[in-house]
Amino acid sequence: MDFKQYIRVIPDYPQPGIRFKDITTLLKEGAVYQAAIEELAAFAKQLDVDLIAGPEARGFVVGAPLAYALGVGFVPIRKSGKLPYESIKAEYDLEYGKDALAVHVDAVQPGQRVLIADDLLATGGTISSSINLINQLGGQVVGAAFFIELTYLEGRKKLGEIPTTTLVQY
Ligand code: PRP
Repeated sequence: MDFKQYIRVIPDYPQPGIRFKDITTLLKEGAVYQAAIEELAAFAKQLDVDLIAGPEARGFVVGAPLAYALGVGFVPIRKSGKLPYESIKAEYDLEYGKDALAVHVDAVQPGQRVLIADDLLATGGTISSSINLINQLGGQVVGAAFFIELTYLEGRKKLGEIPTTTLVQY
């Protein structure tokens, strides 16, 4: 399926010069959303994953249905200060800004095979921080899956040898 036609590009949002990729126009088309998740699920099935982890907020929209489709658990990676239980955190750089992500200390058991899912791979700051958190818990990041990749920002370099799939590239 040509997913790109369902993604709305908004110039100069949230800052001048940024061309924001708006997935809400894809998400509201049920069959398209389902097809996108199924395509990521087909990729994930080859990797024998135990858990899907997804960074807040749009990573939940990709990661949770993907976990459901695979019948595996979902681990929310949240912005620092949001999780109720004991957590570890890792700082990261955004395409525009800086933040910290956190995960519960018992979210992943040592040796578990984790695939990280998100809507967008841009600079790779978010995925690097997410990998860092999973590794700190002893988990093994065996894959990464995104709806969108901004290839010119070269975020894929941050993924090294980790098998990665993206549905749409700009
Ligand atoms: C966006 C997007 C990815 C990340 C990609 O999230 O959903 O998580 O940026 O950029 P990067 O590869 O340069 O790190 P954002 O931090 O805006 O959070 P949100 O989903 O809560 O809006």
